[in-house]
Amino acid sequence: MDKFIIEGGAKLKGKVNVSGFKNAALPIIPATLLAGDKCIIENLPLIKDVNIYKEIMASLGADVSLDDKGTMEIDTSKIKECIATSDLAGRIRGSYYLLGAALGRFKEAEVSYPGGCNIGNRPIDQHIKGFEALGAKVDIDHGIIKCKAEKLIGTKIYLDVVSVGATINIMLAAVLAEGKTVIENAAKEPHIVDVANFLNAMGADIRGAGTDVIRINGVEELKGCTYSIIPDQIEAGTYMIAAAITGGDVIIDNVIPTHLESVTAKLKEMDIIVEEYGDSIRVSAPNPLKSINVKTLPHPGFPTDLQQPMSVLLSHAEGTSIVTESVSESRFKYIDELKRMGANIKVDGRTAVIEGIGKLSGAKVSATDLRAGAALIVAGLAADGTTEVENAQHIDRGYEKIDNKLLNLGAKIKKVQE
Ligand code: UD1
Repeated sequence: MDKFIIEGGAKLKGKVNVSGFKNAALPIIPATLLAGDKCIIENLPLIKDVNIYKEIMASLGADVSLDDKGTMEIDTSKIKECIATSDLAGRIRGSYYLLGAALGRFKEAEVSYPGGCNIGNRPIDQHIKGFEALGAKVDIDHGIIKCKAEKLIGTKIYLDVVSVGATINIMLAAVLAEGKTVIENAAKEPHIVDVANFLNAMGADIRGAGTDVIRINGVEELKGCTYSIIPDQIEAGTYMIAAAITGGDVIIDNVIPTHLESVTAKLKEMDIIVEEYGDSIRVSAPNPLKSINVKTLPHPGFPTDLQQPMSVLLSHAEGTSIVTESVSESRFKYIDELKRMGANIKVDGRTAVIEGIGKLSGAKVSATDLRAGAALIVAGLAADGTTEVENAQHIDRGYEKIDNKLLNLGAKIKKVQE
């Protein structure tokens, strides 16, 4: 078990380069199955979840390599079926994308029920509804999801909840289906557009990704391609917040500023200076910070994945802030950890009332999930004294070399083995 030890108080300064988007990488890697050909995927983040996916693809029979620049060469031509019922598939959330991709190519898949962050009940009923509407039979048996279809036929599918995972999974299953599929009330996140662009680069015919109606004309076959993944808006937002909380001045490089509009707007409301330049964003912050209210929403609303770091920032502001979590069921568990650092936060259901206390104090805390872990690191950067963040493995799942990137910005952080 690794932990991060942080001496708080250093103002972050300099430039940080954002890696490729984890939440785009996790569907694009299994989507290569659909081509049964060689694909080159560039700008993958070097994180644990990508390594796990690489192992899963290798265990299915893919020839796959990943270099230290984040370029994966993957040939899925030798894969003949998709039975991913190992412990590995059960460890990550994104393993459910194998269902859509394998249904598309083989009309059959068996995959362990997905794992990932423990942030409340995370049903997959909308994925199943989509697969069934396309003609598949879906059973869940002893923790394994089994899907099978004689053939897949395009149809109209209305999602009852706006789900990123279900929108992508249905796209994956529908690209090789017969006829036209229309997904209504689709999610609009930037990685939905990225996955659609990747599928189109392989020869698919998907229109409307990024709006709430996606139209997919089924094609006969797909072929391999070379594709570069978009930058990670959540990693970028985390560094924007880290810059602000330390009163620093940081250029966050390799970003698409329009993907971060809700974050930029909220930071500006707190009187933080945010400047956009082409593919970078500069964040500098005065003290004290103003309190504000934040509500998480599907894109283009404020992302649930940045709710935790944002709540830490609001603990440093003056006055009362209200944070409403309307996407995830249970994403306030980290607040008990934050209270060890002196935070004054009351949680009632999906609402947190945060009394800004100016400065947190360093303490021993534990990462309860990926984004909570990142939030505790952000807290430690600005806190008085030393913070130890245990269970670093959660953070390694989604942030590439976070300790090195922060060290380069002047933070006092190290990772040690317990
Ligand atoms: C993905 C991201 C996660 C992010 C989330 C919301 C990955 C691997 N994970 O998760 O980091 O926090 O989007 O942006 O990309 N829901 C249902 N039924 C379903 C599917 C979802 O009720 O079939 C509900 C969920 O419980 C949740 C909401 O819809 O309350 C949003 O979930 P969804 O967008 O699907 O998130 P994930 O794909 O799990």
